[in-house]
Amino acid sequence: MVMDTIGVGLISVGWMGRLHSRAYRALPDHFPELGVQPRLVVAADPVPEAREQATERLGYERAVADWHEVLADPEVDVVSICSPNFLHREMAIAAAQAGKPFWIEKPMGRYASDSRDIHDAVQQAGVITSVGFNYRHAPAVERARDLIRSGRLGRITNVRGSLLADYSSDPAAPLTWRFERERAGSGVLGDLLSHGLDLAQYLVGRIASVTALAQTVITERPLPGAGIVDRSAAATGDTKPVENEDYAALLFRFDDGAVGTMDSSRVVHGPHAEYTIEVYGTAGSIRWDFQRMNELQVCLDGQEAAGYTTVYVAPGDGEFARFQPGAGTAMGYDDLKTIEAAQFLASVRSGRQLAPSVADGLAAASIVEAAEASLADGAWHEVARVDGPLTFDAPTPVI
Ligand SMILES: NC(=O)c1ccc[n+]([C@@H]2O[C@H](COP(=O)([O-])OP(=O)(O)OC[C@H]3O[C@@H](n4cnc5c(N)ncnc54)[C@H](O)[C@@H]3O)[C@@H](O)[C@H]2O)c1
Repeated sequence: MVMDTIGVGLISVGWMGRLHSRAYRALPDHFPELGVQPRLVVAADPVPEAREQATERLGYERAVADWHEVLADPEVDVVSICSPNFLHREMAIAAAQAGKPFWIEKPMGRYASDSRDIHDAVQQAGVITSVGFNYRHAPAVERARDLIRSGRLGRITNVRGSLLADYSSDPAAPLTWRFERERAGSGVLGDLLSHGLDLAQYLVGRIASVTALAQTVITERPLPGAGIVDRSAAATGDTKPVENEDYAALLFRFDDGAVGTMDSSRVVHGPHAEYTIEVYGTAGSIRWDFQRMNELQVCLDGQEAAGYTTVYVAPGDGEFARFQPGAGTAMGYDDLKTIEAAQFLASVRSGRQLAPSVADGLAAASIVEAAEASLADGAWHEVARVDGPLTFDAPTPVI
């Protein structure tokens, strides 16, 4: 088969930048019929060690310090934006204006205002986009969506989500960009609940109104030293206040009358990455936990006496068959990003927005915006409506 080469430019070589790169590399192996061979052209990061990783380990032809060079490069057809949140707005708007389709990490900007500006620039430029809502692509989530959409759970009455992580539970861990309002925006609301809220909308539908509470559990952290400032950075002796929430809880109502609750913490002890969603209907229910990504708990009408049954994902569920031959052999987290890369490049090739779009990114940010308004006054707030292309409302993407 003749493969079309697509030139990739990467902005920021942190955890997500490395993962996007692995996803592009894995794509031709898992999605051969797409006929696409990503070519890793250039990566940008101001940190010299990150640039060295890009060329030595990840396979980029070149690495540069200034991200503008990525957008100006005529050999770059698509761009991955994997920078800290405060840089998303400027980079994404510049990519749209340069006519480059882009795949951006969530949360899309710090605040809904950043997301709205990115969304508007994309509407004007008409470029294809993708947002890193990777949990959508888990085959168990796709199976749950099929069950919900086919009516097997009856009328959906309530949703319960929880995103509990321990990645910041050590008070001695340094104050990286994630803890500053100017560079991150919100705390767990944007970082973790944006994933959970997107999942709730992908499975059940549009969230219409919300009320919230939040707290900052660890109020001060040591400043990081020099070098690559990520979660593993060494701390100095000085401390600085944490400016955003470690914990948040939401109550919400869907458009169609179903209701939901969702909470999140980044400082709990016990759960590592326990991201769960439960959907209850008049005829059945499902429960999914990212830590057991390949399993779905299902209880359907007539099986109530047995309670939940554990179903292992199998060929036929989402894109599982592209990764493993049969149930019980597990897919991994990186595979979700390979599916996201495939949805992105399939969208670019066909001109049809299959991957989660910047409209989906804005929709999640708009719920966070309403939650933050609720934190200020304690009231319920309507979520600002976003017009398409919302892929959470669309049929499940077929590549
Ligand atoms: N989809 C997911 O599940 C998921 C998981 C983790 C992070 N994220 C998101 O990915 C984004 C990046 O997070 P991360 O964990 O990779 O962060 P990170 O801290 O590991 O890496 C950030 C990188 O950005 C680089 N950078 C800083 N300033 C820059 C500039 N001016 N130009 C170019 N690069 C610059 C840093 O040097 C660093 O290499 C965030 O928006 C985050 O919310 C998403």
